[in-house]
Amino acid sequence: GQDLPFALPNITVSQGRDDFVTCRHKKFGDDFKWGTATASYQVEGGWNEGGRSRSIWDDFVEIPGRIDNGDTGQVADDFYHKYPQDVAMMQKLGIKNFRMSFSWSRLLPQGSSDKFNQQGVDFYNNVIDALLAAGIEPWVTLYHWDLPKVYNDQTDQGGWLNRNMIDRFNDYADFCFKTFGSKVKKWITFNEPQSFTWLAYGLGIHAPGRCSSYQADHCLKDGGGGNTQTEPYITSHIVILAHAKAVQTYKQVYQATQKGEIGMDVASAFYLPSDQDNQDDIDACDTKMTFEYGFYVDPLVFGDYPDKMKNLISDNRLLTFTDDEKKMIKGSFDFLGVNHYYSKYIQYTGKVGRDYGDDPRAEQNDYNKTGHLIGPYADSNWLTIYPEGFRGLLNWIDKRYSHPKIYVFENGVSVPGESKAPLLTALKDQFRINYYKDYILNMEKAISEDGVDVRGYFAWALMDNFEWTNGLGVRFGMVYVDYQNSQTRYVKNSGLWYSQLIQSNTIPD
Ligand code: NOJ
Repeated sequence: GQDLPFALPNITVSQGRDDFVTCRHKKFGDDFKWGTATASYQVEGGWNEGGRSRSIWDDFVEIPGRIDNGDTGQVADDFYHKYPQDVAMMQKLGIKNFRMSFSWSRLLPQGSSDKFNQQGVDFYNNVIDALLAAGIEPWVTLYHWDLPKVYNDQTDQGGWLNRNMIDRFNDYADFCFKTFGSKVKKWITFNEPQSFTWLAYGLGIHAPGRCSSYQADHCLKDGGGGNTQTEPYITSHIVILAHAKAVQTYKQVYQATQKGEIGMDVASAFYLPSDQDNQDDIDACDTKMTFEYGFYVDPLVFGDYPDKMKNLISDNRLLTFTDDEKKMIKGSFDFLGVNHYYSKYIQYTGKVGRDYGDDPRAEQNDYNKTGHLIGPYADSNWLTIYPEGFRGLLNWIDKRYSHPKIYVFENGVSVPGESKAPLLTALKDQFRINYYKDYILNMEKAISEDGVDVRGYFAWALMDNFEWTNGLGVRFGMVYVDYQNSQTRYVKNSGLWYSQLIQSNTIPD
């Protein structure tokens, strides 16, 4: 798999702009960061190699019935061994920025930095060195969901329910800044806090599989005692504090010498009113984004949870920050990160329903009031495609937080039927090219027409990988991974298209 199956297209960048008729061909800024993204558990494999200890995902994938087809990330893309080829492949494609995450249990098998794992340090140093030698900047996520098992088992209320996690995460982050900070200049503390708090502690479908929301058979433990939804609020609160403390450490101890930047990465969909003439529906869309993006980003920018959340969450589930905590949290970022994939319709019902991440009086739908589907579905059933929503969300963020500096850390799509398609069909992923073209065009409009300060964009994902509960069966990559045959890589047409985009710094046809 070392050689690309297709020759890269010969790209000539036009000097004059006369031949460029639509804004689709506008040039991005010279400093705009184009990249691709991955995460440790989704690509690395090597789960029991090199001194790595178990993470909560190693346990979770072993529970029968949790992951489609019984897949695991034990081998995944075997990035643990194949990273030199992958870096070479990225270099050949002209990719200049690579978002990856560190496996905490590979670096600190016992969780704490009292005892670090030299082989883990060597592995990430090797990856980082290979990237830098190839002219690719590493962007490192510290936490992309694979908590060391030891921190989940240690007490009855394990994992992110334990306030000790604030210090434990700070210890891990401090170790990473100290060990890698001379080379890594871009740090992301947490990936999608709402996903892992809600899916793992609310619905029980991600590790460690706790249900705070329903008394369901698949739940390992019902921490909330039924329909109380307490745990996602507790874990979110602790995660926000852990983020702020790690950022404080970076800013106080490392930033002046290492000169990097740090932030959090928060996902949000975009929401449209089910009835565009109904003011309640319109307001509920703003409320929904406030509950989803604002839940995590308002504390970072303003020092506290949004008023809407405080007012609409009826009991004490939403925790409160002390004045000292507010001071620590406020301003704990150099940039705002956003992951975006899909849009939904919102209908105000007035009835009290689900409230985690939602206005409890409204519900989200794929269809609007007149029965119109918001957009085609991807292979992932939650992903409804509506490119204009990307522009809408970027504008919403720009407005709410007074023109912040934004990086898009994830955007991408799984192609319907791709997982079952033969290789040569899967490589012709025009559906994915169209998705990227339309979404990136909308981002471009947000930048050039609306003035939103987007500084970079990372496609999810560099290559097919372990898609959590969907296992290896749902593919998001610009590069196909043949899991049956030694994880051989084949660049899809979307990878070639993206390569062309990066090299011309304009959106190709
Ligand atoms: C968000 C997550 O960060 C990533 O791990 C996941 O694979 C993609 N979205 C696609 O679902």
